[in-house]
Amino acid sequence: MANNLLQGKRGIIFGALDEQSIAWKVAERCVEEGAKITLTNAPVAMRFGQINELGTKLNAEIIPADATSMEDLENLFTKSMEALGGKIDFVLHSIGMSINVRKGKDYTDLNHEWMLKTFDVSAISFHKMMQTMMKLDAINEGGSILALTYIAAQRVFPDYSEMAESKALLESFARSFGYHYGVQKKVRVNTISQSPTFTTAGSGVKGFKEFFDYADKMSPLGNASALSCADYCVTMFSDLTRMVTMQNLYNDGGFSSMGMSPAILGL
Ligand SMILES: NC(=O)c1ccc[n+]([C@@H]2O[C@H](COP(=O)([O-])OP(=O)(O)OC[C@H]3O[C@@H](n4cnc5c(N)ncnc54)[C@H](O)[C@@H]3O)[C@@H](O)[C@H]2O)c1
Repeated sequence: MANNLLQGKRGIIFGALDEQSIAWKVAERCVEEGAKITLTNAPVAMRFGQINELGTKLNAEIIPADATSMEDLENLFTKSMEALGGKIDFVLHSIGMSINVRKGKDYTDLNHEWMLKTFDVSAISFHKMMQTMMKLDAINEGGSILALTYIAAQRVFPDYSEMAESKALLESFARSFGYHYGVQKKVRVNTISQSPTFTTAGSGVKGFKEFFDYADKMSPLGNASALSCADYCVTMFSDLTRMVTMQNLYNDGGFSSMGMSPAILGL
């Protein structure tokens, strides 16, 4: 289904860990559409994940970077421009991690040191990434930056815990930085709010399977897959969406507009 939508473009994909990762699918679709990319993930993910396999398959250089480290980010953008032969056209931030969720802490009994770490990894890293790119003048005019988010930023999903606040912060960074990047370089910044998806990060949330089935029933089109998210990312990276910026865009089969579904009530 390739349409050369990203022919001649250079991109950086954060967060491909294994075949389930949303970023994995995005990387594959971007290359299918003609882009040249580099891949990046936290140094620790190099040992646990399968990113090397993806790098070989897509002929993409892998540049490790802890997304909370300004030094690592500077190295990543500099090396990516070298590897790809010029400034970057698109970037995907596909990063999320909460120690409180991982350790099963109750929302009313969170460890606030861990919470700060969650915000740093899952949201502030997005600001750090954009600030570094701007400083290095690493992105081309009209470039497109995306981060992946979840509707828990707007509505209450109790087991999503402090990741809800992380996503609210992430979406706010997209709007605020989108203003500055738009004015300076006509660069677009958006977030895509994705359906529940079976991945390492996703399945870490308590009761994920039941919740996945609930969302699937609630959504007129059913849950959006990782591949459909990748397709949406491709359109957002392409020149077809060059006037879309500072938006939170739902790729959720209609879930976000639903109030009640007869399918849930068994009517
Ligand atoms: N899976 C879902 O149900 C779902 C739904 C909506 C949004 N999202 C979002 O999609 C994004 C991707 O998650 P996924 O579901 O594909 O899971 P995933 O576990 O495959 O991806 C999360 C990635 O974050 C990386 N990461 C963690 N700490 C990092 C750090 N310090 N520096 C750099 N990278 C780091 C991990 O190595 C991993 O590759 C996340 O932002 C997640 O919140 C997921």
